[in-house]
Amino acid sequence: MIRAVITGTGSALPARRVSNAELAETVDTSDEWIVERTGIRFRHIAGPEETTATLGADAAKAALAAAGVVARDIDLIVLATATPDQTFPSSATKVQHLLGIDDCVAFDVAAVCSGFLYAVQVADSMIRAGSARRALVIGSETFSRILDWEDRATCVLFGDGAGAIVIEAQESDVQHGRGVLATRLHADGRHNELLYVDGGPSTTGTVGKVRMRGREVFRHAVVNLATVLEETLAAAGLSVADIDWVVPHQANARILDATARKLGLGADKVVVTVDQHANTSAASVPLALDTAVRDGRIEQGDLVVLEAMGGGFTWGAAAVRF
Ligand code: UT7
Repeated sequence: MIRAVITGTGSALPARRVSNAELAETVDTSDEWIVERTGIRFRHIAGPEETTATLGADAAKAALAAAGVVARDIDLIVLATATPDQTFPSSATKVQHLLGIDDCVAFDVAAVCSGFLYAVQVADSMIRAGSARRALVIGSETFSRILDWEDRATCVLFGDGAGAIVIEAQESDVQHGRGVLATRLHADGRHNELLYVDGGPSTTGTVGKVRMRGREVFRHAVVNLATVLEETLAAAGLSVADIDWVVPHQANARILDATARKLGLGADKVVVTVDQHANTSAASVPLALDTAVRDGRIEQGDLVVLEAMGGGFTWGAAAVRF
């Protein structure tokens, strides 16, 4: 059967890396509070020349090189972001231009921290339907630009960055073949007010800043992530025992621990980068994936489960044979 197979990963981070101690010089917080409550130690913050599109293009170039694919062979770009360079055109078309691709399908997906999972399902569906053969799926964010730097409850949590995959149509064995095996997505707009941005083109005419009721988001995250992960495994005919690696959205180390405990999954199977990158929203899953591929943890043939939850609420998971 034809499946969408991940053939390369890449990532990009802004040059400037900011420690908790450096943040504590301007925000009423401490390294101790941030590490204990979140596990975060560092985040990267974009400089004036670094944008969602430039970071996304750099991550894409690294993924193309890893896959051994040239940019003109890409026929689809799906870019997940909540922080586009401009309201329009899409950041996907900006990445397309930066990569020197003259013609392909390119668009953005907005599902905040779950955006990469939404983008993977879109690309997987288009590849299996035959409307794309070789896609770039990118998560890229510059959340530093929509943070309220006077709100210590949110500004310490987020960072900037980008991750990308090349995903291609390949013949795959039904039982043991490589590729995206199953995806599951959800949204529940009743929770808009727990995590949102207080502005937008059609309301205030401004970009707005991130607002979050952290404790409530935390509670929903653990339940939703454990449920969607089990649902996705069941759809692929697999169980928690089959998992080699979980690559979760990196919001809070305590959410990662609590979700793993709820599933009966060993902490040694969870890829954790939140300490180094903080929460990079739609970029966090592909950034963590690329980290674990490049350091040799994730190998060809491994069963990898990607999962995320974010504003909306939105949440989702994907089971992938690497
Ligand atoms: O990416 C989308 C998904 N997002 C998430 O999953 C985020 C989920 N939520 C969380 O990760 C956690 O709820 C937070 C890390 C945001 C907060 O942790 P918490 O343990 O839920 O703390 P809290 O919000 O209940 O605040 C506890 C205390 C408060 O002080 P009082 O009222 O107890 O005196 C806060 O004012 O910690 C205080 N506080 C801080 N203190 C030092 C809040 N932020 C800070 C800070 N530094 N940065």
